[in-house]
This record gives sequence, C-alpha cells and structure tokens, in this order.
Amino acid sequence: MTITTSTESGTGVPLRPDALLQVRNLRKHFPITQGILFKRQVGAVKAVDGITFDIANGETLGLVGESGCGKSTAGRTIAKLLEPTSGNIIFNGADITGYSRSQMRPLRSEMQMIFQDPFSSLNPRHTVGTIVGAPYRVQGSLSDKDIKTRVQGLLERVGLNPEHYNRYPHEFSGGQRQRIGVARAIALQPKLIICDEPVSALDVSIQAQVVNLLEDLQSEFGIAYIFVAHDLSVVRHISDRVAVMYLGQIMELADRDTLYSQPRHPYTHSLLSAVPLPDPDSGSRRERILLTGDLPSPINPPSGCVFHTRCWKAQDRCKVEVPLVREISAGHQIACHFPEDRPVFGQGGQTIHGPAPTDQELAAQERDRDLARGGAVTGENIAHETELGWQKRQD
Ligand SMILES: Nc1ncnc2c1ncn2[C@@H]1O[C@H](COP(=O)(O)OP(=O)(O)O)[C@@H](O)[C@H]1O
Ligand code: SF4
Ligand SMILES: [Mg+2]
Repeated sequence: MTITTSTESGTGVPLRPDALLQVRNLRKHFPITQGILFKRQVGAVKAVDGITFDIANGETLGLVGESGCGKSTAGRTIAKLLEPTSGNIIFNGADITGYSRSQMRPLRSEMQMIFQDPFSSLNPRHTVGTIVGAPYRVQGSLSDKDIKTRVQGLLERVGLNPEHYNRYPHEFSGGQRQRIGVARAIALQPKLIICDEPVSALDVSIQAQVVNLLEDLQSEFGIAYIFVAHDLSVVRHISDRVAVMYLGQIMELADRDTLYSQPRHPYTHSLLSAVPLPDPDSGSRRERILLTGDLPSPINPPSGCVFHTRCWKAQDRCKVEVPLVREISAGHQIACHFPEDRPVFGQGGQTIHGPAPTDQELAAQERDRDLARGGAVTGENIAHETELGWQKRQD
C-alpha cells in the first residue's frame, strides 16, 4: 500500500499539473444571515467543503452522491456561476478562481454546462435557433446566415431535425430538449462540459440515447466531462474515473473498474449495494446496506469523519479526527480511517444496517433546520442567459 502524505494540495492526493482542470481544496459556503437593517452572519451552508481533483483532456469524471451532497454546487462553482469561498480552480493552465464575469466570457467557449432539467434550462420564449445560436451571437463573429447554417448542422449532429429551427422548447419531448441543451453546449467546441444530472429527468429508455450521444461527441471532439449523477449505475458506462461525494467532500475517487470492483470506502459500499448486479444469474448475491436517517445538515456537519453518524464501522477515532484523503494504490484515493477490505460481492446477501441517529444528533439537525428557516440563506442569482443557457433562479 502506498500512502502519499505530503503534496502541494496538502491533502495527500498526488496531482497532475498538466491536467485540463485542477480543482484544489474548493469550498463553497452559503452564508446564513439574520437581522433586517444590520445583517449578521449566524452560520453557513457548507455545500462544498474542500474538494480536490484533476481532469485530463478528453476524460470523463463521474461525480456521484445522494441528493444535497453538493454536486450541483461543485459544478456551478467550477463553472464560476457561483463565487468560490476558497480554494483554486485552474483551467487550461490559468487560475480562474478570482475571474470576474467579463474575464470568464472568453472562456465560455471552452467550458460549458448541461443542466439537469431540460424544461427549466431552455428559455420557453426563445426558438431553438435562438437558443442554440446564442453562443455564436455572444462571440459576435458570424453573420445571421452563417449562424443559421451552423445551428442546423448542430441540430442534425445531435439527432434533431434541422427544419425545427423555428420551433419552441415546449414542442419537443424531454429527450429532444436535452439534445437541444447538448447542441448549445457543443456549439463552440468546448474542452470541458459540466453535465449536471443530464439524464436524471429522462425516461430510462431515453437516458441511454443521451449518454451515447455524449460519448460519440467526446470521441469526435475530445471533450472532457464532469458527469454528475445521484447513483452509481448511471455513471458506470460513461466514466473513466468516479468520485463519490458526501456532505460536500470527496470520500473516494478511483478509476471506474477499481471503484466498482474494489470499493474501499463504506459509503461507496452502501451506494453500490443499491446498484443491480450486472449478471443476477451468476450466483453471487450482494449484501444490502441500508443507511438509516437523512443526510445530516451541511450547516453543522458531523465532527471528525462527516459520515460517522451513518457508518456501521465508525469507531471513537472517527468522531474526532478528520480522515485525510490519501492514495491507497495508484490513482485510488479515499478518506477513511478504517477502509473496507472485503469485496462487495458474494457476501451471502445479508443486510447491514447503518446506526440510527442519536437523540442528540436529531436535536442538532432540528436546530440547523430552525437556523435555516429563521435566517436568510444567501443564494446567488445564476441566470446567465447568454453564457451558459437560461436558468431559473435556484435559491
Ligand atoms: N443557492 C443556494 N443557496 C443556499 N444554499 C444552497 C444553494 N444551492 C444549494 N444549496 C444547499 O447546498 C447543499 C448542496 O446542494 P446541491 O449542490 O444542490 O446538492 P446536490 O446537487 O448534490 O443535490 C444543500 O444543502 C442545498 O440546500
Ligand atoms: S472514517 Fe470511520 S466513520 Fe468515516 S467512513 Fe471510515 S470507518 Fe466510517
Ligand atoms: Mg444537484
């Protein structure tokens, strides 16, 4: 076992300085304030709390974790739709952490986003031609005629009828709408697309078509993806590597085959136990791991290891000492004091239950909910109509 202890990021994670995207100790906290005239900060939602990873050109990183663990906030902060609280985002060699909106504008051709909900991410008042052509208009270098030709080519490339240029989003199905979002995202041939649950709102039969389209476009244009999903089955096919997030932090990161066949973090085990076996007739039965209780509040996350309140392996050390991310074999990183050694398959199908939340923990969660209700959580307006598409205000 090789354990890297000291690196530039201070997390024990070896870094790739030549990567297309380098995310270093990134944090996004939303302040909670009270008071009308004199606002004072009474807490913060620690949506993303120190994540570090790299992505190479043409690579896909799956980012997985249950709802509310900070995946969308991570994606939006990396795309600079939200201002980072601390940490660094280095894209294509430039540290863009402190870039203003106008400094980001030229980079929009290189870094794009596809949003989860194709219903709310396309402006209902604009035609498909206007939506998909918006990135060209922002650039301002093409005539209207050339934009139309390009947009029709893009529509065809993503499997839509180019004649539907003048139609409105409501005239398309969910899958077709997501194809429109894909066409808009690839218009300027970006190097990176952050795909925030791009297929979660679609029927299962349509999901595979959109994933295949994204894969084809990746082979054709060499695009790198961050592919966000809330379960491990969706990202298996498309990801080269997978990062598992819990309460704003990365618990485990490994190449796809290692993560699915030799997961070491208890949380990854619990997520995997919910994924159907590829070959149910093989005779192996997977243990079922049931986590009890909700995801704790990111306002006051549990001390030590943030997963300790739901982890069946937790010991006293886990409650007080934060497990640093460390590399346990080449490219396989985990944040756990007592990683699992057992394979996840062939455990006789027994069920393991996570611990139930204590009365104290339930009371603390209730206090956090009161804090969030009583105070104003400062969200940020992320309507960037002409840059990354139209988004309803999220907060
Ligand atoms: N704009 C915002 N303002 C305040 N809190 C937010 C905002 N966006 C997300 N959050 C909070 O941050 C946490 C992580 O949310 P999110 O990133 O949407 O998680 P996920 O995408 O994994 O479901 C949640 O507790 C959520 O309520
Ligand atoms: S550090 Fe402890 S509580 Fe956290 S995942 Fe590992 S065993 Fe569980
Ligand atoms: Mg989300």
